[in-house]
Amino acid sequence: MGLRKAGGNWVAGDSFFDREVEIEALIERVEDRIHTLVTAQRRMGKTSLVRELLRRLDETGDFETVFVDLEDCTTAADAVVEIAAAFRDIRGLWTRVMNWAGKVSAGTMDRIDELGVSELRVKLRAGIDAGRWRAQGDALFASLAASEKPMVLAIDELPILVNRLLKGHDYKITPQRRRDTDEFLSWLRKNAQVHRERIRLVVSGSVGLEPILEQAELSAHANVFAPFELRPWDEETAVACLGELATSYGLQVPERVRTGMFRRLRCGIPHHVQQFFDKLHEHLRRNDRREASVDDIDTVYSQDMLGVRGQVYLEHYQSRLRMVLGDDGYVVALELLTQAAVSGGRLTDDSIQQYDAYRSVLSGESGGQVGDVLHVLEHDGYLVRREGGYEFVSGLVEDWWRARNARGFVLFGDRQA
Ligand SMILES: Nc1ncnc2c1ncn2[C@@H]1O[C@H](COP(=O)(O)OP(=O)(O)O)[C@@H](O)[C@H]1O
Ligand SMILES: [Mg+2]
Repeated sequence: MGLRKAGGNWVAGDSFFDREVEIEALIERVEDRIHTLVTAQRRMGKTSLVRELLRRLDETGDFETVFVDLEDCTTAADAVVEIAAAFRDIRGLWTRVMNWAGKVSAGTMDRIDELGVSELRVKLRAGIDAGRWRAQGDALFASLAASEKPMVLAIDELPILVNRLLKGHDYKITPQRRRDTDEFLSWLRKNAQVHRERIRLVVSGSVGLEPILEQAELSAHANVFAPFELRPWDEETAVACLGELATSYGLQVPERVRTGMFRRLRCGIPHHVQQFFDKLHEHLRRNDRREASVDDIDTVYSQDMLGVRGQVYLEHYQSRLRMVLGDDGYVVALELLTQAAVSGGRLTDDSIQQYDAYRSVLSGESGGQVGDVLHVLEHDGYLVRREGGYEFVSGLVEDWWRARNARGFVLFGDRQA
């Protein structure tokens, strides 16, 4: 069979390529009772890495493994419910969770097994109130910690929830929201520390947790997690991945062509590598061919990777930026990235200074915002610091940004994105 195409969502098993070193490192951490925070820009393969880690741990049978996604949560109580609900398909532990739920909701938990997941959430949610989620959440962790095997609890998209707690729907940090965020993170940190012997957390998310916490001066809460930075594939790995995909789908993509593909992307973000292969595959199929040439690369890159679909991906990147930065910061980010895109991919310190001065005049504030935004852009993998300025990390993202700009993008008409 060989390596299979990804199809958009996270991958594991026979669609999962490479990352052996990372998997090994994470297994070691789990064994050493270390809580991990997996960071990387979006589409780098964090969720896939964690899913594959859990799959391999399951094969050994030494740990209970659970995966929780907090993407749709808006409150701390939601998160407690989501964690509890994630145990539904885990024999043995589900009984404990039901016992816990029985106490939480004073006996309304009979016939819970017959409920669908969404009904189950509603029912659990009804039993957890805003005032008591903390104690109820502690009790949940305590009952999970009593499980026979040690547990690996993977929590995906934690930064999205934290960002929501902190900024609400209008992207503004208020004292109340800051307190709520502080309370949630203290709760998680305390449980991570208390149950270290029995439960190891592997936290990940597609927006960086650190820049968000820095905005609220809550960085200390991240200390309980050892950071783990997931890097893009290097040229050799990306080229090998393209080779395996080509073989699996019966295509001939000579090494010269695969290297050309990588050089176009410049940065081996696995999702982009997969996209490029998929577009090339479609292109060859349309032309009823099985062998790719260097010319195909140019065509597929400019027509498919940078085309309308590319703009859709770019919008996804943009909405994440807006979520983290809020409306004002988002505008700053757009202007900085556009400036970089139209200046040959480079943002010089001089132009940053000028722009910063212009922003302070505009907002009447003493500045600093441009620096904060740059920090997020660097952390989230858009820009990298190079002598005397910043450059785009990814050739594809740079080209997307340039294409978008060439299409006559109107800055202030974009706010409904
Ligand atoms: N190890 C991998 N092997 C093959 N493809 C991968 C791998 N990791 C990521 N990808 C590709 O990247 C896409 C995004 O992966 P995902 O795990 O959802 O990233 P993240 O969680 O960092 O946003 C997948 O759909 C797949 O195309
Ligand atoms: Mg993910």
